[in-house]
Parts: sequence; C-alpha cells; structure tokens
Amino acid sequence: MIDPFFTDNPACDHDGTGVEADFVLLTHGHGDHVGDAIRLVERTGATVISSYEICTYFGNRGHDVSPHSIGGGVDYPFGRVKMTPAVHGGMVELPDAEGFTTAPGGFLVDLSPGQRFHHAGDTGLTMDMQFLKGLVDVAVLPIGDRFTMGPEDAVRAVELIEPDVVIPCHYNTWPLVAQDPEAFKAAVGDRADVRIMTCGDTLDF
Ligand code: NI
Repeated sequence: MIDPFFTDNPACDHDGTGVEADFVLLTHGHGDHVGDAIRLVERTGATVISSYEICTYFGNRGHDVSPHSIGGGVDYPFGRVKMTPAVHGGMVELPDAEGFTTAPGGFLVDLSPGQRFHHAGDTGLTMDMQFLKGLVDVAVLPIGDRFTMGPEDAVRAVELIEPDVVIPCHYNTWPLVAQDPEAFKAAVGDRADVRIMTCGDTLDF
C-alpha cells in the first residue's frame, strides 16, 4: 500500500475497512498521504517503508519500519524499492509529530522484469526524472498543479521517463487541484498509454 488516504478523502468512498497490507510505503508526511497510515499499520502490523525521519516516528511508536533515504534501495520479499527525489514540502502531519520534517520522495519498485513501477510522490518537474528513462514500465505522476506538477509539466515528465503506462494522480481531491484527466491523456497522445483510475479501480500489469 502506498500513501493510504481513505478517511477524510472526499474523492474516495472507501473508508479503508478491511484493507490489508504487509508493507506501507509513505512518500512524504503530508496529511493526504499518511492520513490512514497509523490505523492501517496498527491493524495489520505492516512494515512502514519511508524516509528515515518518518520511519523514526513510526519506530518510536513500536511499529516495524524500514528506513530509506533518497537514492537508497532495499530488497524486499516482493521486489526492490528505491526512493527517488521529489521536490515538495517536508512537514510531517501526524499526531505529536512536531519537530519532524523529512525529505519528500517517490518510490521506484522493481517487482520483476517487465513490472517496474514508479510512484513519483508529490513533486514538481525535475531534470532528475531523466535518470528514470528505461527503468519504468508503469509511472504514477501527479497532474493536479498548485502543489505538484500540472498537466503540462507532467507531459514533459512522460517525455523524460518514457514509461509504457501512465496513471495520473493527485488531482480532483479538492477544488484546489481540479484537473481534467482526459485532457492530460489527450496531451500525452501516443507517447504513453494513460490509464485514468478512480477509487476502487484495479490495474493488472
Ligand atoms: Ni504533499
């Protein structure tokens, strides 16, 4: 599970009940990414994979953690995870997390040959994305604008990364990040297969 946000998410009609996870990956500390993380790890006993700072927070509360920093990879039973750079804010919005800030990131998850998945996290467009070229089959890219890349920059990210499939994210949760994913899909054109997903959808790859 990456960035669980069910409760208080106006774009999601699932409250997280019954969701199972062995590992919970957290890109950064903002409330719309860690919102259900505590409930989920308390109920499932899942291991938190995140930055050193966020893992320290969860470790202090007795949860299993596996800390990373940007650029560092670790082999897990399901595949290899490397944290990638994200240009974004570092506040950790969890109870009693005053004093915690972190470097926001994304996750490059290598499940097996042909199943390489990248979740960019919340980020603006960066030239670092060109290092992902040739390493990503499925890319999850924010398109919401204001707090992350907007659609125009996300198209440029597609040009840098060259994934086969793109899943747009971080839009239409609130009016502040309202976007038309169909317009993004049209702008990407034949550069990648854009899959527009909503709460409860699944994609096999
Ligand atoms: Ni954020």
